[in-house]
Amino acid sequence: MAPQGRQHAWLLPVPLLLPLLLPLLLPPAVRAAAARPNFVLVLADDLGFGDLGSYGHPSSATPHLDRLAARGLRFTDFYSSAAVCSPSRAALLTGRLPVRSGVFPGVFAPDSRGGLPLAELTVAELLRERGYATAMVGKWHLGVGKDGAFLPTRQGFDHFLGIPYSHDQGPCQNLTCFPPDTKCFGTCDQGVVAVPLLWNESIVQQPVAFPELVPRYGRFCRDFIARCARLRLPFLLYYASHHTHYPQFASRDFAGRTRRGPFGDALAEFDHSVGELLRALREHGLESSTLLLVTSDNGPSTLRMARGGSAGHLRCGKGTTYEGGMREPALAYWPGTIAPGVTHELASTLDVLPTLAALAGAALPALPLDGADLSPLLLGTGASPRRAVFFFPPAPDPQRGPFAVRLGRYKAHYFTQGSFHSDTTPDRACHGLTPLTPHLPPLLFDLEADPAENYDLLQGQPGPEALQALKDIAEQKELLLQRLHFGESQIGKGRDPSLQLCCNPSCSPKPSCCRCSPQ
Ligand SMILES: *[C@@H]1O[C@H](CO)[C@@H](O)[C@H](O)[C@H]1NC(C)=O
Repeated sequence: MAPQGRQHAWLLPVPLLLPLLLPLLLPPAVRAAAARPNFVLVLADDLGFGDLGSYGHPSSATPHLDRLAARGLRFTDFYSSAAVCSPSRAALLTGRLPVRSGVFPGVFAPDSRGGLPLAELTVAELLRERGYATAMVGKWHLGVGKDGAFLPTRQGFDHFLGIPYSHDQGPCQNLTCFPPDTKCFGTCDQGVVAVPLLWNESIVQQPVAFPELVPRYGRFCRDFIARCARLRLPFLLYYASHHTHYPQFASRDFAGRTRRGPFGDALAEFDHSVGELLRALREHGLESSTLLLVTSDNGPSTLRMARGGSAGHLRCGKGTTYEGGMREPALAYWPGTIAPGVTHELASTLDVLPTLAALAGAALPALPLDGADLSPLLLGTGASPRRAVFFFPPAPDPQRGPFAVRLGRYKAHYFTQGSFHSDTTPDRACHGLTPLTPHLPPLLFDLEADPAENYDLLQGQPGPEALQALKDIAEQKELLLQRLHFGESQIGKGRDPSLQLCCNPSCSPKPSCCRCSPQ
């Protein structure tokens, strides 16, 4: 291309020619950035690798997601960054391992003192800096704090409509209209306030009315997209669904309607809400200028049996560092820009922030990042820059470091531990009573040949390639630990019941009096 450029350069004066040529000389990622695409980031809750029709589930009803899978890029080797909710969400929004931001051990409670530290920079903050309108709908679970210090509105989101934590972190309540008065199957948390619904920082319902919730979110999203379209504002919409976390709920149009039962109803409603987001984009002519990403926060909660999700053929689920705990369905859809297909490249929720920043031309935070820019993979101009995935347990500590490391096709487990979230599966290794077990040498699996992690290569006759992989993995782990600083534990700051959100702050006795008539 250079000689041709020289031949014809005399046709126009150089100062005039340069601005015309410049966009063509830039790599596609940078060209896309000039246009500031919109982003819709959809996160399901406890949805497993095997739960979608497009990932092989035989009875799920997920037509909209399956269409996205067919017309977009479907990932087979996409990972969340933690096996439970709060740290996984922290990593998604910051591009940093949750051990850095201190979002461990476990998850935030409604009255936790801590939250995602305000010094962390979220993707919403980066994009807002770049002129984006930002909104979040659904489950936050990164802290409430005193006077709402850690709510989404303090972390880069202009608008927030949702529940600040998990919807089972409150007394059980009606879940569906049909049949009316459907109670939770099993137990939800007792001794805390009823689950509130917030708009920005104000409580608009307590307890939240589950059967009305998803339609309400839908209206909020439609209004937000319409307003951004009218004002020609690029936007980030983070749709963090409560589906399909326990206790499953569903609104009028979905309760009792699916083959798969209550889990399937919740999943069908989730699927429908993604379809509605797409419809809104299409109505405003934004489909070809919007990247839609769909994934899940962690693996299925098999503790709930048929009310939990499915990891498909992957081992264990939520709470573990086996594949079922952290490998997730993931779809990237951007018609005209992302070619339809399936990719086996490694990718992670940690990569979302660097990728969106690159596509939007936003500056990266001046903090150590653990994510990589996947835009070449999305745009079809290159491979994923990600070589390794690190698996930290829900209660990480600096001495042990990551429990497991994947490098290329191989994964080594240095420690394994069961989790109550993964109880009831036939495999005892998954269960809560299975203690922390160090492995020396590590367990080594070839995830291409054996994605279910059944056959430890070091028990048999490992080939030279596997032995080399073991060395390379040890080196990757060492390199990570050298540059990894564990942040102060935010969840370890404990709880203070007076921090619970109450729609009627002066009432008594608490927490049961924190109930107001719905608006
Ligand atoms: C939420 O806050 C935004 C400003 O960040 C404001 O424009 C919007 O009107 C607020 N919504 C409500 C319901 O108060």
